[in-house]
Amino acid sequence: MAEIIVVPTPADAGRLAGAAIADLIARRPDAVLGVATGSTPLPVYDDLQHRLAGVDVSRVRAFALDEYVGIDRDHAESYHSIIHHQVTVPLGLDPDLVQVPDGQADDLERAALDYDAAIRASGGIDLQLLGIGSDGHIGFNEPGSSFASRTRVKTLTPQTRQDNARFFPSVDDVPLHALTQGLGTILEARHLVLLAFGEAKAEAVALALEGPLTARVPATAIHLHPHCTVIVDEVAAAHLADRAFYDYVYTNKPDWQGI
Ligand code: F6R
Repeated sequence: MAEIIVVPTPADAGRLAGAAIADLIARRPDAVLGVATGSTPLPVYDDLQHRLAGVDVSRVRAFALDEYVGIDRDHAESYHSIIHHQVTVPLGLDPDLVQVPDGQADDLERAALDYDAAIRASGGIDLQLLGIGSDGHIGFNEPGSSFASRTRVKTLTPQTRQDNARFFPSVDDVPLHALTQGLGTILEARHLVLLAFGEAKAEAVALALEGPLTARVPATAIHLHPHCTVIVDEVAAAHLADRAFYDYVYTNKPDWQGI
C-alpha cells in the first residue's frame, strides 16, 4: 500500500517532501530528480530553496514529467520556461543537467524515445514528484492511458484544458497535446511522491487511493509501485473512507523509516 500522509496545509507537505529530497541529495550528490509543474509542487520548491542553500547541487540531475506540444519553448507557460524559473534557477541546478521533453521537435516520436533513453542513461529517477489532475491523470497520462505506456504524445482532455486555462488568456489557448512520460516510465522511478491539495482534487484522490485499479483513473497506477508516498492536505483528503487508518499507520510509523 502507498503510504498516505494527511497534513494540515500544503506548506507542511512541502516541508515533508523537501526534507526527503534534501536527504536524498545528501546521500547521493548526483541524485536524479523527477520534477513536476503546475501549482502542486510549488511548496516543495519553496521549501527546498531554503533547505538547499549552501548545499553543493552541481551534480544533481532532473527530468520534467511533460511538456506542451505546439507552443514555443520560450513561451512563458512552456514547461521549459516554468521548470527553468521555478526549479533550475531557485534551486541552483546546472541547466545542462535539467531536461524537459522537446515538445517542439519535428519528430515527436523520436523525441519521446530519446527522452526515455536519457532517463535510463542517467541511471533512472531516484525520486519522482507527482501532482494529480482533477480527472485522475499523473503526468499528462489522461484517462485510458496504458499502465505500460512510455513517453509519448497525449491529447489533453477538455477537463485538463479547462483546469489549466488559468495560465493562458483563454481555454482555447491551452495546447491540445503534450509530450509526457508514460505511466510505465513513471513507475520505473525508485520513489514516487504524489501530492494533492484542495477541494478540486478530493474526488480524484479518493478514486486513486481507494478505487479499483483502472486505466480510467491513471493515478491508480501508483499501486503497482513498491515505494509510493502520498501527501495530501485535509481538504484533498475529505473523501477518503479509511482516513482514520492512514492516520493510525502514520502515527505508529517506526522512527527509523523516512518517507
Ligand atoms: C505537471 C503534470 C500534471 C499536474 C496536474 C496537477 O507536470 O504533469 O500532472 O501535476 O495536472 O496540476 P496542478 O498542480 O496545477 O493542480
